[in-house]
Amino acid sequence: MRVAVIFDSKYGCTKVIAEAIAEGIKVGGLEDVRAIDVNSFYYRHISDFDVMVVGSPTHYDDATRRTKYLIGHASPNEGVRYGAAFGTRLLREGKGAAMVLDGIMRDVGITVVHDPMDFRVDMKKGPLLEGEIDRAKDYGRQVAERLQES
Ligand SMILES: Cc1cc2nc3c(=O)[nH]c(=O)nc-3n(C[C@H](O)[C@H](O)[C@H](O)COP(=O)(O)O)c2cc1C
Repeated sequence: MRVAVIFDSKYGCTKVIAEAIAEGIKVGGLEDVRAIDVNSFYYRHISDFDVMVVGSPTHYDDATRRTKYLIGHASPNEGVRYGAAFGTRLLREGKGAAMVLDGIMRDVGITVVHDPMDFRVDMKKGPLLEGEIDRAKDYGRQVAERLQES
């Protein structure tokens, strides 16, 4: 399975989480995985991937425009069969980016293999709360395990 962990990141925290998730996916047994910045992702490459794990910082209870656009254009028709959504956020209340991206994935018919996952930052520009990078690796491992069961 070819897996892309695609992220947007204004201050770098979501990028760090995406890279930890990709590492976890590898540890979980899927070698063909890459973390890719959505801003350098070419839409014609959507069909190069069977799985898209997509993440965004939470901006005003929402995901970024680019991540929403990307996942809105990925679908089983394009070859993207499986997915999972994650996000970073400061607050506990309100909608997180992960939940928004998860909803879009389901709408386009992607089989979602994990509940939407939020990772927390301490302040707007970071840092990530302690333990979040390890949690991201664990999440990646779980995603890989579920993909291999599916
Ligand atoms: C314009 C803006 C709006 C934000 N809105 C929210 C929000 O609604 N809820 C929240 O929990 N965090 C909010 N945040 C904090 C971001 O979630 C935080 O900056 C992000 O997780 C850091 O990730 P990054 O380093 O990848 O950009 C906001 C940040 C910015 C810059």
